[in-house]
Amino acid sequence: VTISAAGSAGSGLAGAPLEVRADSAAGARDLIVVANRLPIESHQDDDGATTWERSPGGLVSALEPVLTSRPSTWVGWSGRCSDEDDYVEVPEHLASLGECELHEISLTRSEVRSYYDGFSNAALWPLYHDAIVSPVYHRTEFDAYRTVNRRFAQAVAELAAPGATVWVHDYQLQLVPGMLRELRPDLVIGFFLHIPFPPIELYLQMPWRAVVLHGLLGADVVGFQSAGGAGNFRQLAERLLSLQVDGDDVLVEGAHGPRRVRVADFPISIDSHAIDALARDPRIRKRAADTRRALGNPEVLLLGVDRLDYTKGIDIRIQAYEELLEEGAFDAEKTVLVQVATPSRENVEEYQRIRDEVALIVGRALGAHGKMGTAPIHYLHHPVPREDLVALYVAADIMLVTPLRDGMNLVCKEYVASRINDDGALVLSEFTGAAAELPDAWLVNPYDADGMKDSIVAAATASPESRARRMRALRAQVFEHDVERWARSFLDALEEVTAGRPG
Ligand code: ADP
Ligand code: F6P
Repeated sequence: VTISAAGSAGSGLAGAPLEVRADSAAGARDLIVVANRLPIESHQDDDGATTWERSPGGLVSALEPVLTSRPSTWVGWSGRCSDEDDYVEVPEHLASLGECELHEISLTRSEVRSYYDGFSNAALWPLYHDAIVSPVYHRTEFDAYRTVNRRFAQAVAELAAPGATVWVHDYQLQLVPGMLRELRPDLVIGFFLHIPFPPIELYLQMPWRAVVLHGLLGADVVGFQSAGGAGNFRQLAERLLSLQVDGDDVLVEGAHGPRRVRVADFPISIDSHAIDALARDPRIRKRAADTRRALGNPEVLLLGVDRLDYTKGIDIRIQAYEELLEEGAFDAEKTVLVQVATPSRENVEEYQRIRDEVALIVGRALGAHGKMGTAPIHYLHHPVPREDLVALYVAADIMLVTPLRDGMNLVCKEYVASRINDDGALVLSEFTGAAAELPDAWLVNPYDADGMKDSIVAAATASPESRARRMRALRAQVFEHDVERWARSFLDALEEVTAGRPG
């Protein structure tokens, strides 16, 4: 196949002209997934040796089970800087995941600083999460975002078979669909946003709002976690670019007349059966029992599991718990909160701030309520192996998921899937995508400290029958709507929208 190079178009996406090498079809693939992260990332241990670990976060948890069984290529970054002395590429024996081959995109240190830490995580991330902290816009960082997006698009254009399906993921790569359409108009292109899409009033702050919107509209299907996000996007296309909206679809100018972009919600999920199977494993159940014993066999074990991110409400959750100890609602000698907080985006200032703040709040609560030999809080600021995480879910009486804003939140679904005896209780923020699907949780407004405390106590004191009734309903939802169903519904929508499209 010869793929002709397409020049830059008038969308403002291209910057420098885009090119595809003519030898691009060798080893070409029919399904390509593109995400900032590969499922593995490299770390250096204390001796300077490179170790490889599973990448943190919901995107990897969701895509891994979906892609393992599909012949595909996963294009992404391994977390390393290509211009550092100790740089190593993904080793051969780790370069695939079942049926899925991994293809690494390299980033320099300065690109990581400006594209990842900068525009992605200090501008887009806070802007799309209700501007909980102020987004910071730098022109040079947006330039780097465009450069890196172009690198991803070019790599995909070279890997994709004629007419292949390319599924682009998340806010780090919003320009890729538009760039790819210019490079390879033959491709079927989907985009899925894992985080919230903000109301138009917030989105319009962004200096490059039209460029980013053009980038997203390069896709055939643009998917969101919630109907609200999809609605915000349609409204934006109408208002900012004066595009026509027809039902779910936005109509854009295409090479052969108007082209339909399907805009819809596809709430993401988990591999519910895999978590359920782990939770039934006698080794995991023993580990759960051992954990409770090691914690002093508390009457109530509460649990939080998050990346250490200011959107997750970790600080307000611990503060609420401390107040409950203070007020005597919980006995500090018979109650334990385990908070797992995986380090995340540690070069970004606001993440350093929340890390210090959480450490301070935990220290204060321990100082006030700890006794010799008992600690009402256990704080783990490091990644935890998947099996240990499931053992914690099995051990915990109450799961606290209290983000100020979260696109979906998979941790709460994992907790539900691990409660094989229909026991336990989920306290869940209304401001997660998951809340719309899990109304049988104890839903809370994390900005309302007293309301949240009341709900935590209600969950802790509910009768076993009431907990079981709620948990059965939660489990039914999580098992019916698993991640395979999510993937199929997105790929089916792509097929439907592009069926009969002129080639
Ligand atoms: P996000 O994508 O914002 O991090 P989610 O709740 O959607 O949030 O997904 C988090 C995923 O990362 C879950 O699958 C969870 O099991 C995993 N995870 C979270 N914290 C840890 C940890 N400390 N160690 C290992 N995995 C973790
Ligand atoms: O859920 C949003 C997200 O950015 C995902 O893309 C990813 O799974 C997770 O957060 C972790 O973020 P990062 O890749 O920056 O460590």
